[in-house]
Amino acid sequence: MSDLVTIVEVGPRDGLQNEKNIIPSAQKIKLIEKLASCGIKRIEVTSFVSPKWVPQLADAAEVMSGVDRLEGVSYSVLAPNLKGAQLAVDSKADEIAIFTSASEGFCQRNISCSIRESIDRFKPVIELSKEFDISVRGYVSCITDCPYDGAVESKQVGKVVGSLVELGCREISLGDTIGAATANGVSAVLDVVLDLVPAEKLAGHYHNTNGQALENIKVSLSRGLRVFDSAVAGLGGCPYAPGAQGNVATEDIVRLLHAEGFNTGVDLQRLISKVVPFAQTLKN
Ligand code: HMG
Ligand code: MG
Repeated sequence: MSDLVTIVEVGPRDGLQNEKNIIPSAQKIKLIEKLASCGIKRIEVTSFVSPKWVPQLADAAEVMSGVDRLEGVSYSVLAPNLKGAQLAVDSKADEIAIFTSASEGFCQRNISCSIRESIDRFKPVIELSKEFDISVRGYVSCITDCPYDGAVESKQVGKVVGSLVELGCREISLGDTIGAATANGVSAVLDVVLDLVPAEKLAGHYHNTNGQALENIKVSLSRGLRVFDSAVAGLGGCPYAPGAQGNVATEDIVRLLHAEGFNTGVDLQRLISKVVPFAQTLKN
């Protein structure tokens, strides 16, 4: 059997959070159901964050309750604090993703607290998730570059990854938030992080602003990572990271992985014919 790589589809969350015109919940639900019908097993549906901060995702509860869920698919959500985690539990999320940054500037602009404070805020989130047996994923943004602080030191990434693992995250997603990383930069981060955490616990989350995401994925694959985040049709960006473009397109990473002999379980033809054109209609 060929080597399995898992795609975490983040288009409905990381993609749509950045669209200015409010997209009707029914359209979001349709997108999520179409993605699941292509064999994608992990879908990040939405975020339970302040609607003042991310108005596009103010309908998080409606979207979560509206999706006709497929057996075997994990539907996850982002939560920045206990309030978000409680809403996530109410929505029957399969996974909660907490998110912080390796740089102070982005952490402050994105979640309005320091990195240290963010870790403290996550403690009750972890407690609640344990109570409901929900797994927790941790994001570390700005692994090489921050839109506010500039270059980020790999050892700082290691420190934050270590804190999230210690808290109880089952997986850490390494975010190149503004798509500024190069393969050498990602490699330097992995040199540090893989000393602390095995590759099985890591995911790559690469935005494609400079067209480097596939190179960053290739270097991550060579270092043993087998989980990657992507957004269908390359949707997205981050409203608090000026200039950030979408994540690597799901169809591009799946094409690359299949060409390299990896198995993803994703029906690429169906994705391209049924989902990519629909996702493109959602771009403002
Ligand atoms: P704050 O203003 O400091 O918080 O924001 P607050 O506690 O003062 O609350 C302000 C208001 O929000 C209050 O309502 C709260 O009740 C409400 P009001 O009394 O004014 O009516 N509130 C909430 N409502 C719903 N759900 C919640 C929630 N929490 C508070 N969970 C806060 C702090 C963290 C809430 C805010 O900064 C926030 O929501 N930030 C989210 C920003 C965001 O979603 N960014 C994009 C996702 S991160 C990303 O894209 C990067 C990633 O893709 C990886 C990568 O690429 O690197 C993951
Ligand atoms: Mg992102």
